[in-house]
Amino acid sequence: MRSDVTLHPLDRTLLTDLLRAAVEDADPLEVMPPVEGPGGWTPERRSAFVRFHESRSLAADPVETTFAIAVSGRVVGAARLCPVDGRAGTAEAGVWIGRSHRGVGVGGAVLDSLLDRARAQGFTSVYVSTTPDNLAVRALMTGIGADLVPDGDALTACVDVEADVR
Ligand SMILES: CC(C)(COP(=O)(O)OP(=O)(O)OC[C@H]1O[C@@H](n2cnc3c(N)ncnc32)[C@H](O)[C@@H]1OP(=O)(O)O)[C@@H](O)C(=O)NCCC(=O)NCCS
Repeated sequence: MRSDVTLHPLDRTLLTDLLRAAVEDADPLEVMPPVEGPGGWTPERRSAFVRFHESRSLAADPVETTFAIAVSGRVVGAARLCPVDGRAGTAEAGVWIGRSHRGVGVGGAVLDSLLDRARAQGFTSVYVSTTPDNLAVRALMTGIGADLVPDGDALTACVDVEADVR
C-alpha cells in the first residue's frame, strides 16, 4: 500500500489546488455534474466546479465531506463521503484521480483511507456505485472482498466498514 497518498478535508486553499488538478488532468464529466455549453474547461465550467464544492462541502451546513487527495503533498484528486438519504449509517463514496496518477496504486490507498474516515465519522457502511466498464473500481471492490451486484445499468456494493474486510 502506498504511503505517500494522504487525504485532507477540503478547505478554500485546497479547493484552488483541486481546481488546478481537475483542469490539468481530468475531464469535467469525470469530476463534476454536467454543465451546458461548449466542451472543456471553459470559465463557466471552472466557476461551476468551485460553486459545486462550496455548496456541498464548504457551506455552513455541508451535505457531504470532501477530501483532497494528495500524492507526496500535491493535490491530484478528490474523494467524498455523502450520507445516503433513508439509509442511516450509510455514506456513498466517490473518488476521482487525475489521469496521470491513475493505475499506480493511488486509488487503492485512497479507498483504504476513505473507509477509515467513514468509520471515524460513525458510518457503518459505505455504498459504491459504478458502471460495468469501470474495471479499476471493480478491481478495488474485489480487493477488499466486497461484492458488486447489478442495479439497473450500474453495479453497486455496500461495504461493511465495521468488519475487517481488508
Ligand atoms: C477509479 C479510480 C479512482 C481508481 O484509481 P486508480 O489509482 O486508477 O486505481 P489503482 O491504481 O489503485 O488500481 C486499483 C485496481 O484497479 C486496477 N486497475 C486500475 N486501472 C485499471 C484499468 N484501466 N483497467 C483494469 N484494471 C485497472 C489495478 O490493477 C488495481 O487492481 P489490483 O488491486 O487487483 O492490483 C481512478 O481510475 C479514477 O479516478 N477514474 C476516473 C473516475 C472514476 O471512475 N471514479 C470512480 C467512479 S465510481
